Amino acid sequence: MADPIVVAEGLHKSFGDTHALRGLDLSVPRGAVCGVLGPNGAGKTTAVRILATLSDPDAGHARIAGFDVVRDAGEVRARIGLAGQYAAVDDKLTGRGNLRMFARLYHLSRREAHRRADELLERFGLMDAADRPVTGYSGGMRRRLDLITSLILRPEVLFLDEPTTGLDPRSRGEIWSSVRELVADGTTVLLTTQYLDEADQLADDIAVVDHGRVIATGTPDELKATIGDRLDVVLEDPAALPPAATVLNNLAGAEPAATGADRLSVALPGGGLRLADIVRELDRAGIAAADVRLRRPTLDEVFLRLTDRKEAVR
Ligand SMILES: Nc1ncnc2c1ncn2[C@@H]1O[C@H](COP(=O)(O)OP(=O)(O)OP(=O)(O)O)[C@@H](O)[C@H]1O
Ligand SMILES: [Mg+2]
Repeated sequence: MADPIVVAEGLHKSFGDTHALRGLDLSVPRGAVCGVLGPNGAGKTTAVRILATLSDPDAGHARIAGFDVVRDAGEVRARIGLAGQYAAVDDKLTGRGNLRMFARLYHLSRREAHRRADELLERFGLMDAADRPVTGYSGGMRRRLDLITSLILRPEVLFLDEPTTGLDPRSRGEIWSSVRELVADGTTVLLTTQYLDEADQLADDIAVVDHGRVIATGTPDELKATIGDRLDVVLEDPAALPPAATVLNNLAGAEPAATGADRLSVALPGGGLRLADIVRELDRAGIAAADVRLRRPTLDEVFLRLTDRKEAVR
């Protein structure tokens, strides 16, 4: 396999007493979309800032296309684009004006800057709004403009730090299709997100980050497989909830969660259990079930389990 285009090895970074990164490792193959998933404060932005040469690690190394982010920062900058967590566009300028300004800052000739601005506006569906000041843009349009600003120099690697936080579903969908367009062009994308469905939709591989470390990696399916199936039981009589919880606890070796007045849900152990055994045990305890179902866990459940948050939180 070809060398990964993004590599981070043992990154450490502290701010005073806060250990934002404690040995973060990452590896992203060329052309892939890597989703860095983690709760607030996990260290996602800190990692992206180091990879994008905006901040130096206290320890560890990172390379983009073989270039060290500290020693060869210039070479790295020539190959990357970054759309930060907070849109960096100028409100007073129009969309077109913003793109032209950034293109000039990146030393494109005037003519090149104009051409590239129009090309990007057209490609990513902002041409109709091109000559309106950004103040009047919706949150989604603003993020999209920010994203395409990072594309002016045709980066090989694009970092997107929570590209859709705070956006409505339609605007999120628009950002997602823009990302897919880029990937179709061969751009490698590293995106951070707190949204499981976003990682599920876009990422080939997911790195789950918590407390400054990668605590799990894999495709969405591989991650779902790591925590085994879920068992959902709906009871005919809500009064049977406590004894049913005991039966399920004994079978699964884990405390079931009440997901409603008449229903329970529990993670099953690795090897899994057969539906027939579960039904038989409930039956033996004199518990009537209206529905017993085994299903794959959602990525949310995987994430909550891995980051050790209580399932009831979300
Ligand atoms: N410049 C800074 N000064 C002090 N502390 C910082 C600084 N930047 C980050 N931190 C701290 O480092 C930790 C990791 O922050 P970071 O911004 O990387 O998290 P994050 O995963 O991006 O979170 P979010 O999802 O909220 O954006 C947090 O505890 C944060 O308060
Ligand atoms: Mg962040």
